[in-house]
Amino acid sequence: MKILITAGPTREALDPMRFISNRSSGKMGYALAEAAVAAGHETVLVSGPCSLTPPEGLAKVVQVISAADMAEAVKAEFPSCDAAVMCAAVADYRPKNYSSSKIKKNDGEMVIELERTEDILASLGSMKKPGQLLIGFAAETDDMEENALGKLQRKNLDWIAANRLDLPGQGAESNTNTVVLYSVNGDRIVIPLASKKQVAEAILKNTGVNK
Ligand code: C5P
Repeated sequence: MKILITAGPTREALDPMRFISNRSSGKMGYALAEAAVAAGHETVLVSGPCSLTPPEGLAKVVQVISAADMAEAVKAEFPSCDAAVMCAAVADYRPKNYSSSKIKKNDGEMVIELERTEDILASLGSMKKPGQLLIGFAAETDDMEENALGKLQRKNLDWIAANRLDLPGQGAESNTNTVVLYSVNGDRIVIPLASKKQVAEAILKNTGVNK
């Protein structure tokens, strides 16, 4: 199968020096890419800025910076893919105005106006054709199940992998993770605490990407 995977954070620039981003390390997405390659899939990785080296054997790597760059790359790749796993921590907001010169400090406070970025996963949900498998992630601190199930429906996903950000051994920067997989058919599968590599293999197996 041809599989599209996104990983890492995005950066939303304020000026040539500064950006808004998040703590995503890219580890879960890169582990998914590695597991997809190991299973023999033609694998395309679209990655935001992170310090990891892409695994060997990928069909293609597209390095992007912002949510807008990621949206463009992902929407170009998705039509030719059998499945997409959207693990990237895409910024939900970006500065409304970009300053091409470095912003100077003043004595007073400063307010930065933000605008919404495109929800890339929701865009893929509306582009999805019969036979394509779409898997999202939900990183939550509160009401994990309710939020994950809402996203599953709203974004027209087949599966969502939910994890908690506020517990030790899981989430953004950790080397381990534990996720709960929810399907549109009502499945609920708990993947217990393990390395992100093992969790990646379990996600691909349980969602039907890996046979
Ligand atoms: O709604 P929320 O941001 O929690 O949803 C998380 C899922 O949506 C992840 O799979 C993430 O990759 C995707 N997402 C996206 N574009 C955004 C925000 C989130 O593709 N702007």
